[in-house]
Amino acid sequence: MDTSEIRKKYFTFFEKKGHTVIPSASLRPENDPTTLFVGSGMQPLLPYLLGEKHPRGVRLVNSQKSFRAEDIEEVGDNRHTTFFEMLGNWSLGDYFKKEQLPWAFEFLTEEIGLNPEKLYVTVFIGDETLGIPKDTESVQIWKGLFKEKGIEAIDIEIGSEEDGYAKGMQQGDKEGRIFYYDAKKNWWSRSGTPDKMPVGEPGGPDSEMFYDFGTEHNTSFGEHCHPNCDCGRFMEIGNSVFMEYIKKEDGSFVQLPQKNVDFGGGLERIAAATNGNSDIFLIDTLQVIIEYIEKTSGKKYDDTRYTHAFRVIADHIRAAIFIIADGVVPSNSEQGYFVRRLIRRAVRYADLLGVPDGVLAASVTAVSGTYKDQYEILLEKGGEIAGIIAAEEEKFRKTLTRGLKEFEKLSNNNISGNDAFILFTTYGFPYELTEELAEEKGISVDRKGFDVEMKKHQELSRSGSEQKFKGGLVDHGEMSIKYHTATHLLNQALRNVLGNSVQQKGSNITPERMRFDFSFDRKMTDEEKKKVEDIVNEHIKAAIVVTNQELPLEEAKKLGAIGLFEEKYGDVVKVYTIGDFSLEFCGGPHVTNTSQLGHFKIVKEESISAGVRRIRAVLE
Ligand code: SER
Repeated sequence: MDTSEIRKKYFTFFEKKGHTVIPSASLRPENDPTTLFVGSGMQPLLPYLLGEKHPRGVRLVNSQKSFRAEDIEEVGDNRHTTFFEMLGNWSLGDYFKKEQLPWAFEFLTEEIGLNPEKLYVTVFIGDETLGIPKDTESVQIWKGLFKEKGIEAIDIEIGSEEDGYAKGMQQGDKEGRIFYYDAKKNWWSRSGTPDKMPVGEPGGPDSEMFYDFGTEHNTSFGEHCHPNCDCGRFMEIGNSVFMEYIKKEDGSFVQLPQKNVDFGGGLERIAAATNGNSDIFLIDTLQVIIEYIEKTSGKKYDDTRYTHAFRVIADHIRAAIFIIADGVVPSNSEQGYFVRRLIRRAVRYADLLGVPDGVLAASVTAVSGTYKDQYEILLEKGGEIAGIIAAEEEKFRKTLTRGLKEFEKLSNNNISGNDAFILFTTYGFPYELTEELAEEKGISVDRKGFDVEMKKHQELSRSGSEQKFKGGLVDHGEMSIKYHTATHLLNQALRNVLGNSVQQKGSNITPERMRFDFSFDRKMTDEEKKKVEDIVNEHIKAAIVVTNQELPLEEAKKLGAIGLFEEKYGDVVKVYTIGDFSLEFCGGPHVTNTSQLGHFKIVKEESISAGVRRIRAVLE
């Protein structure tokens, strides 16, 4: 069954149950400063869940385009995608559990034809301190539904993450079918668990449905398997959220004026379940890209050396197409930055497979074709979208050329983990590319060292994106961090323009502006100021990853690290690197990528004492 067939069946099924089909909202949230992209079906419907009247009634059904930027690094396994469609049926203060669970079950087993033996479900265990009861009502409903299919559904209290979900599937010699989890797994709100929710945020317990692909448990994911185990046996395909609570000022929860149902089913995952194959990249909308890449590269998706690259390309190109269709173009800020990252990553992996230039853009037509029933706009705008992707690919190729030059410089010796990492982050070289090039030269690459750097970086960018996505609008702390990174760029730019005698004498940062004091014995000319600004802005535009490492002081000095430092750091010092441009002693923190800074502008340059000048500058 292809995705458009499943989508259609879903709409028809719920229309028969009194629902009205509504179109997907744009991926760009309206009046919602909490996220850059719509990442769930619930976001665009928030006002109606809180009680506003929806013009189309109290029973709605849709398929919402969703993009989860925080999953970008996860793409490559068989289940993660950044873009997906969320099938949703909505009760706005109308029906509740005893209608919702049977309908969801009927849809999956009768309409889609999934074997009920392969469905497992989870429910909320309750939270005494919040006064939210254990969801025994859902358990009773599930037991009845499975019984009708001749299945005795045993319920198990699985425990919590802290105890490693120690019970697993077993109860006595029987396997469980219904699992009680705590809020970490069976509570849904835009911001996660109850403790993370801001005041006024709605949320509630949920009941999730999992498909059992029957693969053997891999104990590296925990001793026992269970529906939320990540070993690959189970995949979540649907989630009924009983959105009935709202958080109050004092942290307690009270009932919303209306009890809502928010069901979300991953369209691609449901399609994978109907295929009986847990690889969601085998579904039609992603397969078309994979087939196209196979044809043009001569490589095979099934060849495990290449599977990962195929998946990244397919996911990223599809996501880029949808985001561009909603009016975003590649740039260095906010939403545009994600499109840029998606396309550039796809290009890197396409190169790895030997795909000729321009093929990614050419695949737009094939992708749009698979969506013709639902998103006609993709076909209408196809030429424009392909043009934008092609232009971005071309721009990126220029950076790649510089990267090859850098590789030549580095490859007199074996490549260290850190060098491989810099090639990856600053010049966009996937590790595999560095390895291939090294092999040709007969030198080695330190894989372990690379992995260590990569892990550090991922942790950094994860905490960065958590701030961005969970914390909402850029706050003052983040602004100061941006200014901090700008001082490093400015420091180096001044040395480039005025000479290496320039020494930083101090700096002062507020969320609104920065001040930077340095040794120099005359007024800067307008031309010099302009040059400094241009250099800083060039390095912002180049979207360079900022990394740091700890080094023995002597070694850092030998490498030419600049900046203020005191011996208080001890023998080992921390240095921050911005590509091959800046190396500076510093305790941090810094942004993870210079593209986050915006536009740098010098407001004033003046003398503050003999031989010391001060620059005031802003980021716009
Ligand atoms: N809001 C829930 C989710 O995103 C169900 O739609 O999982």
